[in-house]
Amino acid sequence: MQEIMEVSDGKNHGLMSHRGFMLIKGIHDPDEVDMIRNLEIKESDVLVVTYPKSGTIWMQQILLLLEAKGDLTAINKHSTFSNGELVPWIEVKGYIEAFIKAQPPRMRVSHLPFSLLPSALSQKKGKVIYVARNPKDVLVSYFHFHKVANMLETPTDFDNFFEKFMRGDVFGSSWFEHIKMWYLHKDDLNMLFLTYEEMIKDLHSAVERIALFLGSEVTDEQLADVVKHSTFNNMKKIPQANYERVPSHLLSHQKGMFMRKGTIGDWKNHFTVAQNERFDDTFRREMEGIPLDFIWDIKDIV
Ligand code: A3P
Repeated sequence: MQEIMEVSDGKNHGLMSHRGFMLIKGIHDPDEVDMIRNLEIKESDVLVVTYPKSGTIWMQQILLLLEAKGDLTAINKHSTFSNGELVPWIEVKGYIEAFIKAQPPRMRVSHLPFSLLPSALSQKKGKVIYVARNPKDVLVSYFHFHKVANMLETPTDFDNFFEKFMRGDVFGSSWFEHIKMWYLHKDDLNMLFLTYEEMIKDLHSAVERIALFLGSEVTDEQLADVVKHSTFNNMKKIPQANYERVPSHLLSHQKGMFMRKGTIGDWKNHFTVAQNERFDDTFRREMEGIPLDFIWDIKDIV
């Protein structure tokens, strides 16, 4: 976060396309992003990959808690603003050096596409956790986040943002491309593929799977603590976990919260019937042959 504060003056920096992927001017440096491809990866490295608004900060909290065996105070005393300081984005300008020098386990999050992340991952080095979220809720969450995040363009209205998202004219580019590339390579990597919706449905099972995948040695009691401190309602009360202390030149907290609704199906409150039909058509076309089912409504998990 310190580096973001230094590289960002809080103005709307706009987007830049780099190797076909949208980055944020001022937050990302294309030359540094290119260095990521050749980074050495250790067996103990853990990388969480998400398309924006798919539960990245949720995973930061879970990884840190697993590492701390469920002890929340142990995490909080190490970060000033947010968990993002302890599990940072690998692609943010100025962060690579710290990654190279960090003590194991090096835990990072990323929104980058498969083609830009370390090629060593394809030799099954390190561990990758990909978290996918139903894209209609991603779009809605991203719309609201654009109103809060000062490094992103404030949308004129929902309809306008809907079009941008469908064109992939946002940081992260096309949701469809992102998930397809990562999903299609999942067997080449040491990867755990999770969905936001399954985490909502049964957080305990999801955390158990993450712990097993990472080889975390936690007792049942410690695992229960990890779950307890990573529920939406509890994370909302933890300043480091809910990002409320991120400086206001980056996030305009009075315009909305990072931890907004944390549910499934909020798209129903935003999409028109016509937008929904269009989205469904695009989804069917883009995801043809990809055996992924999403949960689109909170009612479908009970
Ligand atoms: P909403 O805007 O729909 O509420 P990211 O961290 O990738 O930017 O994702 C942010 C989204 O994840 C937000 O969605 C946020 O509320 C949600 N989120 C974060 N922690 C969560 C938790 N513990 N449970 C459910 N949703 C969570």
